Amino acid sequence: MRLQMFSAFFAALVLVTTLGVYILYEPTRQDRARADLLTSQIHQGEIVFAQNCAVCHGGAGEGLGANPALANPGLRETDYETLAKTIARGRYNTAMPAWSVGDGGPLNDAAIEALVALIQHGDWQTTRLVVADLGLTPRAPISVTIPAETLAQITALPDGAKLANAAQLYAANCIACHGANGKATALAPALNDAKIRAERTADQLNKTITQGIAATLMAGWNQRLTPAQIADLVLLIQRWDKLPANAIPEPPPQPIIVTPKILETGKNLYAQNCSWCHGTEGQGTRRAPALNVQSFFQKVTSDAAMTLIVTNGVPKTAMPAWGERLGVSEIEAIVAFARQWQATAPAVAMPQTGGGGGPPWQRNNAAPNLQPLAPNQTGAATPGAPNLGQIDWRQIVLLGAPGIALLIALGASTWALWRLRDSE
Ligand code: HEC
Ligand code: HEC
Ligand code: HEC
Repeated sequence: MRLQMFSAFFAALVLVTTLGVYILYEPTRQDRARADLLTSQIHQGEIVFAQNCAVCHGGAGEGLGANPALANPGLRETDYETLAKTIARGRYNTAMPAWSVGDGGPLNDAAIEALVALIQHGDWQTTRLVVADLGLTPRAPISVTIPAETLAQITALPDGAKLANAAQLYAANCIACHGANGKATALAPALNDAKIRAERTADQLNKTITQGIAATLMAGWNQRLTPAQIADLVLLIQRWDKLPANAIPEPPPQPIIVTPKILETGKNLYAQNCSWCHGTEGQGTRRAPALNVQSFFQKVTSDAAMTLIVTNGVPKTAMPAWGERLGVSEIEAIVAFARQWQATAPAVAMPQTGGGGGPPWQRNNAAPNLQPLAPNQTGAATPGAPNLGQIDWRQIVLLGAPGIALLIALGASTWALWRLRDSE
């Protein structure tokens, strides 16, 4: 009898405690669930943003050219409805397209919700890395390096439109090697130079830029620039002294974004494409010079210059123009990987032996024996969009546990009361 009263009391106690704990715990649990959902929405938003929006709004939402920044405090405070509507319907008569399926776009409601979550609560520095990991960082438009007022001054000169065009082409393609204002770097001679203006004819300059200079870092540009663009560049080299001083200043350094995934991609691409000539650790072979050596990094200081060398190759040597085989972000991944050697590069390289006992690389101008690459063989994989509708088992357990405890407590107290009645 005592025992039964005791168990009835105990069961009631369990019941009350469980309920109490549950009531106390429930709000935090809901908060946590909400926070989890928001985190996963933001992450989905980052991926959707990388695939659809970064091209205009910039990898970190900083805005590119005429396209506004999305990383701004004003938009963070903007209400859900306004943001969702802007994205879904676009802005009529502007470059901002409509994105919702309902308006003929590619994005469903969940994707647009995720984008709003990103704009209101996301972190743009994380987004920048996600965009880079997917190989979708947009290239900055070239016009940004020359201030608008300088461009206007250049345009006012005779043949000004051509000179202004050439100045922008120079800023985009040549500055990394020939330096700000054409004043040379460790990699390449000055082009803004009285001697060149006096001694080179337009034809000579045109030929140099079109075809390059054999076995030097000066590659031919006929694949990348039109004859008219090359003619404008020739005009610039011949009339550089008429331009305002400091017209084409040093662009802000744009180091390649580095993430563990990009380094991994770069490592694999290097192993597949470069190591058989430049050595497994960049130490050089008979076929090609070392890259993992101090003198190389003293010469090639900027990532932009290294990217240009790899993209355009070295004319009339075994060094191919990789721009014809690899994508921009693949080449940048290789450059990021090679840049890692800089800190520990030895003063003197010890080239890997082997390579068939042929002549040293300097004399080996034989056509490279390159295996064809399958297109996008090693391109960064695009992860599947996360599925927001997935069942979260943790939530079921969290909800289920108090329920089961309640059932047990109820069962126990009914049983105890039953026994109590029986014994009377
Ligand atoms: C083709 C270029 C382009 C693309 C791609 C693009 N946008 Fe835009 N976006 C613009 C332009 C231009 C504007 C400014 C429109 C205006 O003048 O009102 C804009 C405006 C916006 C605004 C309003 C900004 C403000 O300050 O009011 C939001 C929000 C926005 N875009 C989000 C997105 C999202 C999200 C995506 C990807 C799904 C995207 N955009 C893709 C060009 C683009
Ligand atoms: C990867 C580095 C690199 C890039 C990028 C580059 N150059 Fe050169 N350029 C060189 C080097 C190195 C030389 C000197 C070659 C030699 O030793 O004769 C050179 C030489 C020249 C010359 C010959 C100068 C003379 O004395 O006659 C011209 C003209 C020239 N470059 C124009 C350009 C233009 C225009 C661009 C952009 C479209 C450009 N270069 C981009 C590395 C580069
Ligand atoms: C078929 C052999 C071969 C392959 C493959 C090759 N290179 Fe080269 N590379 C050369 C040779 C030869 C030179 C030297 C050219 C010269 O200046 O005479 C060179 C030069 C270079 C330079 C300039 C070095 C300097 O000191 O000026 C860089 C940077 C470079 N290669 C990077 C790469 C990268 C990155 C890859 C892989 C994507 C690659 N190379 C693949 C043969 C090769």
